[in-house]
Amino acid sequence: MARRKFVCGNWKMHKTGQEALQLVKDLVQRLSGASAQVGIAPPFTAVAQVKWALSQARSPLQLFGQNCHHEKQGAFTGEVSALMLKDAGCDGVILGHSERRQLFGETDEGVARKVKAALAEGLHPIVCVGETLQEREAGRTWEVVSRQMRAGLAGLDTGAVQKLTIAYEPVWAIGTGRNATAAQAQEVHGQIRGLLRELGGAAAADAVRIQYGGSVKPDNAAELLGQPDVDGALVGGASLKAEDFAKIVEAAR
Ligand code: 13P
Repeated sequence: MARRKFVCGNWKMHKTGQEALQLVKDLVQRLSGASAQVGIAPPFTAVAQVKWALSQARSPLQLFGQNCHHEKQGAFTGEVSALMLKDAGCDGVILGHSERRQLFGETDEGVARKVKAALAEGLHPIVCVGETLQEREAGRTWEVVSRQMRAGLAGLDTGAVQKLTIAYEPVWAIGTGRNATAAQAQEVHGQIRGLLRELGGAAAADAVRIQYGGSVKPDNAAELLGQPDVDGALVGGASLKAEDFAKIVEAAR
């Protein structure tokens, strides 16, 4: 089955409201003819403005949060719920990003709760997995990635698994300028596809897009996206420049 490519820009902690509006305006123009599915994940503070701009332009660009809490509401200072993201106009949410895991103590079990909360609100979760350099060098890549997958998808029925996107983001490739080679990415993506078959059945394994993330740039995107199990990209730094992001989306054609 041909899966529609899916490219999402993770803006991380970048862009004020005004800067976000400018970037969106530029992206909307450049991406009007895109054949891939395209998402952007601005910081929470810019979500409403970006939503407004996308609606004004009747743009098909999708809007993603970068994280959410697993409860709908409550005394959780500084947190934002899946319900709130939905209410603000988000289509989906990035969950379990390695920066959340490494810098903010997120666990596999915590990610699983967030995935369920996002699905309960009808949000499209992008579930991030990936090994550190130390883990790769110790030959533990698949042990780590499969553990994150099994734990993050625990308790989901096959229908729920089909609604996910998985982002394979080797931690050593994020923000380093050192991307995984196409062969390295394909190897892990193929293993993830196999595990999806085990966890969600053949239909889920066919339907779920597996994005690659980690130093995706205009000059390496086509090769990475040309791999049979690389169904898109989760782009950090290069998503902050409309020209670069548009070239990556174009490479997903
Ligand atoms: P870079 O593209 O900046 O390496 O970031 C990747 C990433 O973490 C996307 O979520």
